[in-house]
Amino acid sequence: MRFGDMIMQWSEQLAQFSEPHWAEKGQLTVTYLTDAHLATGRTLSALMLEAGFDEVSTDAVGNVVGVYHGQNPKAPLLLTGSHYDTVRNGGKYDGRLGILVPLAAVRELAQRKQRLPFGIEVIGFAEEEGQRYRATFLAASALTGSFDPAWLAQVDADGITMQQAMQQAGLPGTFDAIAALKRNPNQYLGFVEVHIEQGPILCEGALPLGVVTSINAGIRAICKTTGMAAHAGTTPMLMRQDAMLAAAEISLMAEQRARADTDSVATVGQFQVPGGSINVIPGECAFTLDMRAPTDAQRDALVSDIVKQAQSIAERRQVKFEYTEVMRAAAAPSDPAWQTRWERAVTAIGQPVFKLNSGAGHDAMKLHTIMPQAMLFVRGGNRGISHNPLEIITAEDADLTVQAFGALLDDLVAHP
Ligand code: GLV
Ligand code: MN
Ligand code: MN
Repeated sequence: MRFGDMIMQWSEQLAQFSEPHWAEKGQLTVTYLTDAHLATGRTLSALMLEAGFDEVSTDAVGNVVGVYHGQNPKAPLLLTGSHYDTVRNGGKYDGRLGILVPLAAVRELAQRKQRLPFGIEVIGFAEEEGQRYRATFLAASALTGSFDPAWLAQVDADGITMQQAMQQAGLPGTFDAIAALKRNPNQYLGFVEVHIEQGPILCEGALPLGVVTSINAGIRAICKTTGMAAHAGTTPMLMRQDAMLAAAEISLMAEQRARADTDSVATVGQFQVPGGSINVIPGECAFTLDMRAPTDAQRDALVSDIVKQAQSIAERRQVKFEYTEVMRAAAAPSDPAWQTRWERAVTAIGQPVFKLNSGAGHDAMKLHTIMPQAMLFVRGGNRGISHNPLEIITAEDADLTVQAFGALLDDLVAHP
């Protein structure tokens, strides 16, 4: 249990940093480049240095990058890691676990003064959740050469551009510096990511670990309906152009359409009547759509049906419907050889191999575009709840996960 207790303690150490409004309520919110985010990044750097990484740095998007050299510093590296930002009022393990597990494994190697035939690069990705800016996966995108330069001009809820936020954080804030982070896949063996499952399957199956077969495809959009604000007391029901009711009907339609496929999902996570009043028919409604499915084709059919039906709902209700896609991620099936490595690693530590696909999005989806990738899931307690402070793992499972990661390293030595 020496690894398990350490992972739990490190998770608590990282979770002490939260944004003021949320910290006051004892809640964990760490969005891109806020003070809490920068403090979390500094703590990760300190943990990596203490663990014995040879190089620790923070890159131009705020990723914390630790490299543990192999026997030959020129040999290709194993790339791994996950994100350290959180959703609002999130859990302590989503993302962070995938940084801390390899950190513990490298610490063990460094203590034994052991060098492998390959180096290990662990990345604490600065942003994966798309909370402060509509630039989901921006940190991993920098590594894959898909960082959109237009993101730098995006503003947060307080009107601060991403470029300003970067410069305030001491980062260059230039696209040139970000473009330079692009990784050359020839210098890497592949990418592996450890993550809490964030769903009920492992918990209900009494299984500590799961090998991921594929990550679902997703699209996110910002939507707006515009009708006519009018007097709530005098406007007859049949004369209204109620923007909120149109958005509500669209939300229910999206739910129905997703349910028609057994394995698609659609979520309206934000829903607002800007400047609304108790006695005014909503003239405007702003809402979001997050739509996912196991394959790109199924996702595209889902999205196309939802958008088409939203337009006809809007027409019938005489409101305008606007739809702006802000994120599109392709499904990411695991690389068969790397999935097999995880299966052998899980077997090597005496655990049953259970395979499942991922409904959640992950940094691995981005790395997938430039190198082979495969993920390992860890059981979450409380029936796997996540994006919720009830998210939990046990120290026993954390311990097994570090052992599995160590077994994956052994497997890479035995089967290069
Ligand atoms: C990332 O947490 C996601 O929304 O899947
Ligand atoms: Mn998440
Ligand atoms: Mn995550």
